[in-house]
Amino acid sequence: MFLALATIIIALIRSTSSQSAAGCYESIVSFGDSLADTGNYPMLFESDSHTPSYALPPYGRTFFHRPTGRCSDGRLVIDFIAQRLGLPLVQPYITGRDRSFSKGVNFAVIGATALDFDFLRNIGFPNTFTNVSLGTQIDWLKQFLATIPDGRKFLQKSLVLMGEIGGNDYNHPIMQGSTFEEMQPLVQLVIHYIGSTIEELIKLGAETLMVPGNLPIGCFPFCLATYKDSSIAQDYDPKTGCLNWLNDFTIYHNQLLQEELSRIRELYPHAVLIYADYYNAAMRFYLSPAEYGFSKDIILSACCGGGGPYNYNGTGKCGIPPARSCDDPASYVSWDGIHLTEAAYRLIALGLLQGPYTIPHITTACPAFNRDDQVYQY
Ligand SMILES: *[C@@H]1O[C@H](CO)[C@@H](O)[C@H](O)[C@H]1NC(C)=O
Ligand SMILES: *[C@@H]1O[C@H](CO)[C@@H](O)[C@H](O)[C@H]1NC(C)=O
Repeated sequence: MFLALATIIIALIRSTSSQSAAGCYESIVSFGDSLADTGNYPMLFESDSHTPSYALPPYGRTFFHRPTGRCSDGRLVIDFIAQRLGLPLVQPYITGRDRSFSKGVNFAVIGATALDFDFLRNIGFPNTFTNVSLGTQIDWLKQFLATIPDGRKFLQKSLVLMGEIGGNDYNHPIMQGSTFEEMQPLVQLVIHYIGSTIEELIKLGAETLMVPGNLPIGCFPFCLATYKDSSIAQDYDPKTGCLNWLNDFTIYHNQLLQEELSRIRELYPHAVLIYADYYNAAMRFYLSPAEYGFSKDIILSACCGGGGPYNYNGTGKCGIPPARSCDDPASYVSWDGIHLTEAAYRLIALGLLQGPYTIPHITTACPAFNRDDQVYQY
């Protein structure tokens, strides 16, 4: 009894003495894929002969009014989180210029997988888009930490965004038309990899990590278009028109991810591991589009695309004419068939920060003097 009380008191003292646990983060450290990349990909492949379509107009049209390397018409969830915390938008790590990363550093890369490039190739699911994986991003983090005075402290005071990552490990099999059963063995591997990476980050000093699950990809134009003529599992949800089996697959991934987070919480009780429920935060849009400002009749179509069913055309991608953008991206959930619009990302971010979609709920309280100071600097 006494021991239990003492443990609670020690835990309380710890959590109040740690700034990050109180929700006052000095920076954001981000890993992931196109859902979080704020500009790494185009710089990594700058020397390649052709510009990736994601780095061409109309990407960025709504907020930045130019392409920034973000896979959307505007800001991503990470941008809205940074703004809410009074921090600058998180800088991409890969850059030709000298930049200060004191308030945040982003290692996320479009197309990145959780599992290593060579491993995926060897098991027959090669990543044809990039060789960057979560392991590459952790190597970059270590290189970065070695260049600053106190890397451990930097991580301790950061909000670490672990993903979303893992979606691309499945996207390549999906583009080949794979089944649930063919992809299922991948899930354990992906979750295990994400879990051991989280443990590694905690050992390096990280104390607050937000870990998003996957989005309802069964509602995504690229999936709906890929499986349109396929004989397997054309089982659509009558309420939404989404592919049931693909959403069930995402739910399966998210379930294992949450079990993994519970396991890690027990091993490292001082760390705050927040699950970000992207799936349900986004599923609301498909269930009641009008409530969120989306148009019901185009809820499953991409705003920017090259025509065809769901306005997703694998050979006529957004960014490459004759594909073009719709007039009002804010009335669409899907921007280019694979990624969401700024309007959708904004609502997801609000759902995480103010709504019920972070477990445990993310605290963003910060002493007023500190916050004002940060806002002025921004
Ligand atoms: C990834 O590919 C690039 C060339 O596009 C190469 O320079 C780099 O060394 C590769 N990285 C790894 C980890 O294989
Ligand atoms: C897809 O885009 C290509 C290239 O622009 C075009 O030739 C083709 O007709 C489009 N397919 C559909 C179904 O619209």
